[in-house]
Amino acid sequence: MNIDPPLALLAEITHRCPMRCLYCSNPVNLEPASRELDTATWLRVLDEAADLGVYQVHFSGGEPTARKDLGELVQHAAELDLYTNLITSGVLLESEDLFRLADAGLEHVQLSFQDTDAAGGDRIGGLKDAHRRKLEVAGWVVDAGMAFTVNAVIHRHNAGRVGEMIELAVELGAGRLEVASVQYYGWGLKNRAYLMPTEQQLDAVTEIVEAARDRLAGVLTIDYVIPDYYARRPKACMGGWGRRFVNIDPSGRVLPCHAATTIPGLTFDTVQDHALEHIWQHSDAFNRFRGTEWMPEPCASCDFREVDWGGCRCQAMALTGDAAQTDPVCSLSPLHESVRVLAEREAGAGTETAVYRGAKKESVLRDLS
Ligand code: SF4
Ligand code: FES
Repeated sequence: MNIDPPLALLAEITHRCPMRCLYCSNPVNLEPASRELDTATWLRVLDEAADLGVYQVHFSGGEPTARKDLGELVQHAAELDLYTNLITSGVLLESEDLFRLADAGLEHVQLSFQDTDAAGGDRIGGLKDAHRRKLEVAGWVVDAGMAFTVNAVIHRHNAGRVGEMIELAVELGAGRLEVASVQYYGWGLKNRAYLMPTEQQLDAVTEIVEAARDRLAGVLTIDYVIPDYYARRPKACMGGWGRRFVNIDPSGRVLPCHAATTIPGLTFDTVQDHALEHIWQHSDAFNRFRGTEWMPEPCASCDFREVDWGGCRCQAMALTGDAAQTDPVCSLSPLHESVRVLAEREAGAGTETAVYRGAKKESVLRDLS
């Protein structure tokens, strides 16, 4: 099989993060700071990524600004002519940090907002005063002249405010807004019953987003990701396994996607043991679901098999217990109807309990604010 180079590297430089978002897609068992790659190794990995043909580097986490060497990594990536993007909650940033990152060559910032009001945002993010700080950071991003995207994750508790979220993105001066439904991996999967929207909410969100796209053409680009569980066709997760993206976790494990460690039986190579190109070409984890050879029916004979690549392996794992199944979000999967029933049941039950990272047990969220 001819293997093209990856388009983008998602560099998860740390899992440390002061926020505790109820839908965090990081693994439930996080890598401790003591296992993080050192600066020299990340600099070498950036060299290897550029040599491999990577075009963009997304610095992510956890909260990537928790690492003191972020500026050095950004500068090195920029010197290698890699497009640099920072995916951040913003809550650890001071204005001088941001201007220093801009000077180092940072080109784009994706800043997450949990809601349009402080109480709702701080509650979902599990951190007091986070919303106010994010508003400040947005102003600095615009002042520093970097391309700016607002990331808004939509769920049952804020779907009614998607219109306000769009207005907020315009007011903040963002050029792009990502209205993304919760993806049910990591903490999102743990808190699925708390987060799942109803189908009526989803329809209303879709209507508002489509109207805003027309109204704001040329002002704000809106990307919209509907909840998988209500979709009829799966997303081409990661643009297809081992085709476009490579993830490196804080300890240096090279992963085909951020949730791949939830799939039992895969062996992940690390950048401490092998060069990135060797891993991209030869790693068992990358080759297991690359291309179409691995596919079961109905994918194997489906016209869309090179469009969505069978959907998401981690979702197939979470919903069927077998990562090699057709993603059951697909209407051609024999399990499709049960996914919709599950979504409607969880949304309809209206549970008010969820669990934060670090909490010993489930919390009733209305009592936490
Ligand atoms: Fe995609 Fe498989 Fe569904 Fe076809 S059957 S649309 S390839 S997930
Ligand atoms: Fe792992 Fe979709 S998140 S393949």
